[in-house]
Amino acid sequence: QIFADSKDASNAVAQEIADLIRQKQKEGKPCVLGLATGSSPKTVYAKLVKMHKEEGLSFKNVISFNLDEYYQMEPDSIHSYHRFMKEQLFDHVDIPKENYFLPDGTIPAAMVRDYCTSYENKINAVGGLDFQLLGIGGNGHIGFNEPGSLINARTRLITLDHSTRAAAAMEFGGLHKVPRKAITLGVAPILSARRIVLLAWGERKASVIRGAVEGPVTERNPASYLQAHPDVSFILDESAASEL
Ligand code: GLP
Repeated sequence: QIFADSKDASNAVAQEIADLIRQKQKEGKPCVLGLATGSSPKTVYAKLVKMHKEEGLSFKNVISFNLDEYYQMEPDSIHSYHRFMKEQLFDHVDIPKENYFLPDGTIPAAMVRDYCTSYENKINAVGGLDFQLLGIGGNGHIGFNEPGSLINARTRLITLDHSTRAAAAMEFGGLHKVPRKAITLGVAPILSARRIVLLAWGERKASVIRGAVEGPVTERNPASYLQAHPDVSFILDESAASEL
């Protein structure tokens, strides 16, 4: 779906999420959301906060799991995705503290494998993801599943691509300060979500979007794996769609 600009697009995505939350509320069920970081979803979260404040949209039945976190990373660091999510969404809505989860960037190396399995188990224990929100890296990564990630990749510790670290260098105040690793939800658990929405704004995403949508399904562009999913939308502004 191509929108005139990212604001219109974000409002439509926020509306879909709000409708899902309300529908689950009516059914007396939790709404299990997979959430993403990066600049792209910020406008979606801003709209959801607005809907909470103005329309009384409640997040009490929301259980959320974020895609990824840098490793090593303290949750209260200004660069952590924990902090990002609190600032963009959690601190402004009524989601109970015990209902949101992000990968723990402080887990000791020897425990990471078991920890990743338990993160996936937690998602399954609440019935799996109803909705997964995604951004896309300039190299096609989803979460931090970098090129080379297989379609059956599980949640794991991954070494970040140079291009991913370079894209984050400004924010961190230098390439040498960007962590070399991250914990990411795997490709397989992402594809297990019942509904997936990927957001991309701006011309710098145009070529990777073309590859993901029209190119072959390949580990060189992990977002191309989404072609195999039965209920996925790419929500684009005109510039991100300009090479389709
Ligand atoms: C990071 C995140 C991804 C995100 C990507 C794109 O690498 N781990 O989940 O999709 O950035 O970010 P942006 O939306 O800022 O372009």
